[in-house]
Amino acid sequence: MGNVKSRPRKIIQSEVFLSEGDRSDLEYAATSSSAAAATAVASSIVHFSAKSFAEHGNSAGYLIIHGLPHEWRDTPSTPTEAGYRMSDQHPSSRLLRAVARSCGTLVGYEDELEGTLLRDVYPTRGGESGPVDFRTENVHHPLRPDILGLYCLRRDRDGVGAMRVASVHDAIGKLGDQVAQTLSEPRFLSGSPSSDGLGRGATTAHPVLFRHSAGAYLRFNGRNTIGLDRAATEAIVEFRGIIAESARTIVLAPGDMVLIDNHAAAHGRTAFTPRYDGSDGWLRRFHTVHSMPQWARRLMPRPGVIPRCDVVIGMS
Ligand SMILES: [Fe+2]
Repeated sequence: MGNVKSRPRKIIQSEVFLSEGDRSDLEYAATSSSAAAATAVASSIVHFSAKSFAEHGNSAGYLIIHGLPHEWRDTPSTPTEAGYRMSDQHPSSRLLRAVARSCGTLVGYEDELEGTLLRDVYPTRGGESGPVDFRTENVHHPLRPDILGLYCLRRDRDGVGAMRVASVHDAIGKLGDQVAQTLSEPRFLSGSPSSDGLGRGATTAHPVLFRHSAGAYLRFNGRNTIGLDRAATEAIVEFRGIIAESARTIVLAPGDMVLIDNHAAAHGRTAFTPRYDGSDGWLRRFHTVHSMPQWARRLMPRPGVIPRCDVVIGMS
């Protein structure tokens, strides 16, 4: 087991560039209606790239789609208070839903922002603007997102905020065999992210690293995954260092979207200085899953909203 490395995944590019023609077709469609946006995306390079990435992944753990439309006439100033939700009829909402459909099924979580499907991410007064630790999304949850999508609607004026993405493929080769083995055993617990107001109990013991001949996978949050014994604690400290060292820095321009394989890459963020003057950076986020158990569908409070974590744990 100690020598098991991840098998290289099918080579899929990590960046796609839309032509001006693609961009204007998508802009026209998204401005017209949700149905037009869905049709335009489904027949575009965006669909084929996103679908292929969602199904096969790549060694980088992410795919950037450059050049999506972003100059929407009715985009407001960047909000400054928590809780803002962009209208579902805003063209960017139509576009994001359509791209999410290419990745899988768009989902929200009942105990995260009341099941919001498209989350608006911007600095809020009293919120955090420092660097964000590497994590896979919803590490505490049995039904974790498969794909995380982040679309840049507005870039921060200083241009210093960046995503950091570290793939398990890049990190695993730098791990010593003993540390890799420790990380592969159920010697870790993860708590619910308090920033999302969950506050419920920690998970049962789980491994941070899954190694299989079909690939390697991660379940890790630098902020709230802890080792249950001394060796596990030391292993996670080393792992955090290796993740940070092997991470790539991604600067998103307006109209760029990054899709992250939530099982194959951890993501974080660099620090930035918010101004709270309506010009701060604004990302729009979605989560998708490839499939959903029938029982979870039945228990959904609304379509696409995964039931509370304690309900899912009880059922799974
Ligand atoms: Fe995140």
